[in-house]
Amino acid sequence: MNRSHYCNQVRDNLVGQRVTLCGWVSRRRDHGGVIFVDLRDRTGLIQIVFSPERHSHVHAIAHDLRSEYVIQVKGEVAPRTAETINPNLETGMVEVYADTLDILNVCQPLPFQLDENVGEASRLTHRFLDLRRPEMQKNIIFRHRVTQSMRRHLDEEGFIEVETPMLTRSTPEGARDFLVPSRLNPGQFYALPQSPQLFKQLLMVAGYDRYFQITRCFRDEDLRADRQPEFTQVDLEMSFVQSEDVITLTEGAVARSFKDALGLEVPLPLPRLTYEEAMDRFGRDAPDTRITMELVEITAAMKNTGFKVFAQMANMAGGRANRGAVKLLRVPGGGQLSRKQIEDYTAFVATFGAKGLAWIKVNAPWQEDGWQSPIVKFFSDEEKEAIQQASKAEVGDLIFFGADKLPIVNESLGRLRVKLGKDLGLMDDKPFAFVWVTDFPLLDWDEEGKCYAAVHHPFTAARTEDLPLCMSDMEDDGSHPLTKVRSQAYDLVLNGVEVGGGSIRVHDTAVQLRMLELLQIGKEEAEEKFGFLMKALSYGAPPHGGLALGLDRLVALMLGVESIRDVIAFPKTQKGTCMLTQAPSTVDAPQLKELHIRSTQGNKPMV
Ligand code: AMO
Ligand code: AMP
Repeated sequence: MNRSHYCNQVRDNLVGQRVTLCGWVSRRRDHGGVIFVDLRDRTGLIQIVFSPERHSHVHAIAHDLRSEYVIQVKGEVAPRTAETINPNLETGMVEVYADTLDILNVCQPLPFQLDENVGEASRLTHRFLDLRRPEMQKNIIFRHRVTQSMRRHLDEEGFIEVETPMLTRSTPEGARDFLVPSRLNPGQFYALPQSPQLFKQLLMVAGYDRYFQITRCFRDEDLRADRQPEFTQVDLEMSFVQSEDVITLTEGAVARSFKDALGLEVPLPLPRLTYEEAMDRFGRDAPDTRITMELVEITAAMKNTGFKVFAQMANMAGGRANRGAVKLLRVPGGGQLSRKQIEDYTAFVATFGAKGLAWIKVNAPWQEDGWQSPIVKFFSDEEKEAIQQASKAEVGDLIFFGADKLPIVNESLGRLRVKLGKDLGLMDDKPFAFVWVTDFPLLDWDEEGKCYAAVHHPFTAARTEDLPLCMSDMEDDGSHPLTKVRSQAYDLVLNGVEVGGGSIRVHDTAVQLRMLELLQIGKEEAEEKFGFLMKALSYGAPPHGGLALGLDRLVALMLGVESIRDVIAFPKTQKGTCMLTQAPSTVDAPQLKELHIRSTQGNKPMV
């Protein structure tokens, strides 16, 4: 072995012993005589002392050491004197007097110092250096712990890890596919999986009963801080189960990983909300329940109001996607907000389609003429009383209002709620707020395509009592009645971020065909795209369901980092590029020719 200990293992119990250490020179200080080096490996730091008196030959070599040189050191562990103890270092009680020093490799002058705060572009370009930083090493090793903990838990619960293909057909999860041309089959393409959804269902048909996989998924979508084009799911599927079983199993796995990786007990069972309740109270299907404010609907009380925008919206009929609504959000202590701040929040909600952001400052009860607002003059006493009842506002508060189609009111006030909660500190101090959101609708109405779209994915089962509605051939009178069908889908939300989602699946061929038909996938197309699934369902498919956790998101939240890029060793930028390898890149013309592909973007000339 090249080493006897890792740096961070060198503690007072080793005093007097000789150790062999390997690592990188984190810092070298030359105190005119004695040279000190902080030696670093993935476990931490230890101070190495090169003394001209004790070991003059080694001391001479230590003069050549520079930042990030790779060295092997042998020497004796000694206690530090009282005044040189470093309480900020886990190994700060001791140091190692080097008697042997081998420079294993040198290092070019660094593009940035490892402890320097540099931009993400430099970090990603030199990711091998960035990953050397203790902060990143902590993140990546932490991720490993979570992964191992999940794997162990699922194994102990009787799950079998099975790998599924990366070169496959489109698996519809609502994103675009990454395609791979097939050299052996001119003009044909594989798709990289958006998830292992169909394969895990086939494994249930094949009798594996409990499957899991910690696997990469690929989705060509617009990227954000919590979205990468390739990301990792802890994917699982179970047979002969109901939602309840999948939820309980998942809670166990998540709680186990919090215990193993963070040493935290997550109280189980986790709280739950139905989709409807989440949308009503928080305006979002992934509510951040740490934030204490809630939306309250006052549509019914605004039908006859003199404020025309509110009255118009309050009288606009329709289904979930197109009826009008008026909602309010009471901001405790919000009376302090300046006009400028209110203007900024108005601009903020405008980015989500809101046409305005009406407000009332509660300087005193309305009966005392204490409401300051551009719109209060339009309200009758009855309407003011209704607003008071709904908001329960107190003196010093501010009430915001949104009036529009329901989805716009929910989206804009829901986002505003989160922003205000964070800006004004209107949140409880729990670090982790989990909530299950259940009973998602099965279908949404897609106004652009004039068709239904699956809310989760096309293989999700309806709630048994809503199935007749789903199967019925009723006329659409414009209200898109099937958007009322509830599904057996559930999402796990942590601090307002969707960290997992799943459902009980359709296991009946006729129902699956009907679902595809509702999504305007006709028999022929269904046969072409999902024939293998339909066939499998007809050969003795057990009832089954499952879920996938977004591992990157979960780990990022556990660590409290802003972006999932900080928990992925080699992530892509917002534009989907890898700054380290310069992927994606153009390819040589012969390679394209071999793949039967011609680029419209100006290939390199043929050779
Ligand atoms: P879903 O599409 O909800 O479900 O994905 C599951 C979880 O994966 C995470 N996730 C992402 N993380 C990072 N970057 C992305 N681009 C990204 N997209 C999704 C989210 C999400 O909750 N097959 C179903 C699961 C099932 O039904 O069993 C599926 O993929 O945290
Ligand atoms: P206006 O009548 O357009 O001058 O607006 C009066 C107040 O109502 C302003 O504070 C606007 O921001 C607000 N407002 C206008 N339209 C809406 C709307 N659709 N929802 C909420 N507030 C609105």
